[in-house]
Amino acid sequence: MATSAKTFSQKFEGLALTPPMGWNSWNTFQTNISEQLVKDIADSMVANGMRDAGYTYIVLDDGWMSMQRDTVTGNLIPDPKKFPHGIKALADFVHSKGLKFGLYNCAGTKTCAGYPGTRGYEYQDARFYASLDVDYLKFDWCSSDGLNAQESYATMSNALFVAKRPVIFSLCEWGNNKPWEWAAKDGELWRTTGDIGNYFDTVKDTGGWKPNPVTKIIDLEADLRKYAGPGHWNDPDMLEVGNGMKEGEDRAHFSMWCMLAAPLIAGNDIRKISAATRNILTNKDAIAINQDALGVQALKYASKDSLETWVKPLSNGDWAVCFLNRSAQPQKINFNWKNETVNDTLSSKQLNTTADTYKITDVWTKKNLSTTAKPLNAVVPSHDVLMLRLSK
Ligand code: GLA
Repeated sequence: MATSAKTFSQKFEGLALTPPMGWNSWNTFQTNISEQLVKDIADSMVANGMRDAGYTYIVLDDGWMSMQRDTVTGNLIPDPKKFPHGIKALADFVHSKGLKFGLYNCAGTKTCAGYPGTRGYEYQDARFYASLDVDYLKFDWCSSDGLNAQESYATMSNALFVAKRPVIFSLCEWGNNKPWEWAAKDGELWRTTGDIGNYFDTVKDTGGWKPNPVTKIIDLEADLRKYAGPGHWNDPDMLEVGNGMKEGEDRAHFSMWCMLAAPLIAGNDIRKISAATRNILTNKDAIAINQDALGVQALKYASKDSLETWVKPLSNGDWAVCFLNRSAQPQKINFNWKNETVNDTLSSKQLNTTADTYKITDVWTKKNLSTTAKPLNAVVPSHDVLMLRLSK
């Protein structure tokens, strides 16, 4: 077990006081990425309101490099076919749109798609990213046999720090080494699970591996809430909204990522976004719950017959409440607020509707649903949510 002294690292403070928001190329494009794609995505994010809704970082995942480092300098080489004008010009373009730019690499000797990894080149690569004006680095864990995760991530964190350009450091070791216990000093977010797939609750074998459905990831997040907070977030993986699930499932997935104070990194083809997907991704009331300054991840308050009740305290004394219906049938809710006092010991916040009456707003329909003085009666469709904001 490495000691904290052995893995001493510094990071730029204040880079992600609320969960990072942006777009990443992997979920839709894998390694089929290019300069033109990024430009079109950036333009689309400006035109469709995503940038103004808070999506800031455009992150190129695996596949942006050539297969070999420069034989003389040892530097990484952006793929000249995919990026004919180089990465710096592309970063400049993204910045000119009021957005920020990110790249991907891996702590091991190779990335997961077989491109050159960073092992042994941490300081050189960090200087290279700084020279490209990179704002965000996702750092994966393939080809890492024999490496110590705490040491590897601390080394890269320190390399970014001494390269002097503030970079959000996104650890991606899939939760293998419990990064929530040690990575807050290294980076701004850490993956808590293996890769997400565009499935609500089914586990499908997709060519030898089984991506995690949304509900499985939600289950894995429930016990990790105490590790998240401003500047250091649990990352349940990038969004699959707009990638093939039903609209209600996408809404439930997005709502729960907002409740979980998860990074909101879209993973769909934004150039061809549907109105329904855009409405989900840009729901400002859901995003406000995700981006709330208190930075507390939701508590799973109750679970009965596949209907879960999650609650999230908010900075101004409001609460977000999300009823998640995981079953194949619609579920009735009869929720008498007076009988449900929430004492959240983590945040020292209390939801007590005997002491205070809250107004209730439906985050998705925008309707006012009376107050907590009366029991809530509603029906939640299968694989969907009822997401509420309670305000005094
Ligand atoms: C791993 C990560 C993914 C993605 C791919 C790229 O599987 O978990 O998010 O970055 O590698 O190869």
